Amino acid sequence: MTTETAAPPVTSAAALGTAAAETGLIDDPTAHRVLTGDRPTGPLHLGHYFGTLRNRVRLQDQGVEMFVVVADYQVITDRDLADRLAEHTENLVLDYLAAGLDPERSTIFAHSAVPALNQLLLPFLSLVSVAELNRNPTVKDEIAHSRQSAVSGLMFTYPVHQAADILFCKADLVPVGQDQLPHLEVARTVARRFNERYPHADGSAVFPRPQALLSDAPMLLGTDGGKMSKSRGNAVALGATEDETARIIRGARTDADRRIGYDPVDRPEVSSLVLLAALCQDRAPEAVAEEIGDGGAAALKRVATESVNEYLRPLRARRAELAADRGHLRQVLRDGAERASAVADATLREVREVMGAVI
Ligand code: TRP
Repeated sequence: MTTETAAPPVTSAAALGTAAAETGLIDDPTAHRVLTGDRPTGPLHLGHYFGTLRNRVRLQDQGVEMFVVVADYQVITDRDLADRLAEHTENLVLDYLAAGLDPERSTIFAHSAVPALNQLLLPFLSLVSVAELNRNPTVKDEIAHSRQSAVSGLMFTYPVHQAADILFCKADLVPVGQDQLPHLEVARTVARRFNERYPHADGSAVFPRPQALLSDAPMLLGTDGGKMSKSRGNAVALGATEDETARIIRGARTDADRRIGYDPVDRPEVSSLVLLAALCQDRAPEAVAEEIGDGGAAALKRVATESVNEYLRPLRARRAELAADRGHLRQVLRDGAERASAVADATLREVREVMGAVI
């Protein structure tokens, strides 16, 4: 089997989200189908919001056809998560809807609820060698960070399963973070090999070659100065109360220089708070820093807290309303699974046909 180099990723233009950059996100929205998703591991936070969620909502609002997968089969190896899978899944949907994903326009579903998607895993696995899976850096990293004593076969095959997540609906654009690029490369390889090996009778290809839509949203740091992460307790959850938000930001690491500036290289922690406030105020971080001036860390944290709470107020109000109706969240998942299944069934039929399956 041959290896290949990655195609250049499509990069979104919007760093701080000006209107012009937003419209430049994708040239012709109706010409694309986007698939993206998350593992149901816990509440989404500001890093998710400014990193990807907001872009998803923009893509949806531009009229791009969007599929959002709740990757529940990717967390069943973690006992703690697996025990509360339904709750985590519903809460993820809750955060999606609160952030502005509209289940009428975007298909939100759990991949375990779409049998035909999972069946694609088998032919796809036949196209990938064990050696290739072994050297996938994302898998290596996940294995290194997993709390399991032994690596399950399932974890090993995540990238191929993820190829099924992407290809079942023939998505051509996949908004992902840098860390997911090796997984996307597997999906591209699977698509290429499948198309080569099993063309339609007229020579046309079954699958598109999906491309990464890399978010260039600036990275927000966690309050401890490290990567913002659900498990480290260093992040403001979208659903946090205003008091919790204030408490978390008050505890953020800063430095002793009273003059607030925006200098992500030399003053990463202070700059991350400035950036957070700027994102929420839709202003340039330099302007926000300038306004705080010599106010020191206390003033910076006050501004950041107020900005976040004000920005999230409508989202949180919506979230509280939605949270009161668990039945609705389950219905969204059921409708999404039904729509995704219709698409997956059609793809599986096509796959079986080109592979020469009897019925
Ligand atoms: N592995 C992804 C993550 O950890 C979640 C995911 C599952 C995904 N299937 C996907 C992302 C398909 C993009 C496309 O965030």
